[in-house]
Amino acid sequence: MLVLGFESSCDETGVAMVQTQSQGVPTLLAHALHSQIEMHQAYGGVVPELASRDHIRRVLPLTREVLTACGRSLADVDVVAFTRGPGLAGALLVGAGVACALGAALGKPVLGVHHLEGHLLSPFLSADPPEFPFVALLVSGGHTQLMRVDGVGRYELLGETIDDAAGEAFDKSAKLLGLGYPGGPALARLAEQGDPAAFKLPRPLLHSGNLDFSFAGLKTAVMVQAKKLAAAQGCAIEALPAGVLADVAASAQAAIVEVLVKKSLTALGQTGLKRLVVAGGVGANRRLREQLSADCARRGVRVHYPELHLCTDNGAMIAMAAAMRLQSGRETASEVYAFDVKPRWPLDAI
Ligand code: KG4
Ligand code: ZN
Repeated sequence: MLVLGFESSCDETGVAMVQTQSQGVPTLLAHALHSQIEMHQAYGGVVPELASRDHIRRVLPLTREVLTACGRSLADVDVVAFTRGPGLAGALLVGAGVACALGAALGKPVLGVHHLEGHLLSPFLSADPPEFPFVALLVSGGHTQLMRVDGVGRYELLGETIDDAAGEAFDKSAKLLGLGYPGGPALARLAEQGDPAAFKLPRPLLHSGNLDFSFAGLKTAVMVQAKKLAAAQGCAIEALPAGVLADVAASAQAAIVEVLVKKSLTALGQTGLKRLVVAGGVGANRRLREQLSADCARRGVRVHYPELHLCTDNGAMIAMAAAMRLQSGRETASEVYAFDVKPRWPLDAI
């Protein structure tokens, strides 16, 4: 069965073709991606209306690119999948509209996919896919969750952030240091040159005993620290010497990573599972990968990451999640094309 998938929940337009298999993991045949980062950079963040319009511009050329790359035509497609939520309503509607129009025109069923399930299952796109069951650390721009995953569609929420997501902590800290958008990768890059122990920043809820996170206070602590340094030097935060900014960035990153690692290890301990999957944009962070891999190796835990270029939003993970749902028999695609989107949609509610 050939699944054509569309991702348009935020600032990346992604299209992909995945083939289900009689057994084993479905195969990615081709995928194409357009990132809107350059377009939003001028505004310091994602402008929802511009995002929707750009998805409209990009989605059909990307679809043609995918069909050409895998040598198939639209007539070969068996199911059309799209991100149904969560995300920006207008942006989601573009992918949903295109997918349902295509489905109706081709007489093929459609399937709405949960964006976070896409991230969660994205390590199955790698050469060394995980096996169920596992603990998943989902760290994206809008979500920070620990889940127990027993199979496709069998997700139990173990803990989540009570305020900002880890990605937001990266983005907001980066913004107040004058690093622009997207902040996460910029802060991570700057942190490479800094001393992670330079400033003592809080590790929120580190010893809370549960698996919840809180990052809002950390962002404030970064701001207080940066303002103090700027006042001492008599300059604006952005004008601080590069070495000092790098030290603040490295200290902020160290605080976020330490909490993510500690809570992931606690979740593994509580569930008794020996496998961890890390997914979502923050999963691209080098310090997080290094520390998790080192700590998990000491405990005999295998860690699986999506390939670096599939950590952030893409169409491949959406087509893969749809294919895995169909292959597992948990889902059948629908021939009702009266689509809706779910801008807010908890993963454990699917
Ligand atoms: O999963 P994703 O592409 O989008 C959502 O579904 O939200 O994640 C985007 C988030 C942003 O907050 C971005 O700053 C962060 O992932 N991010 C990183 C890195 N690359 C992306 N954060 C830290 N280090 C990185 N290398
Ligand atoms: Zn995402």
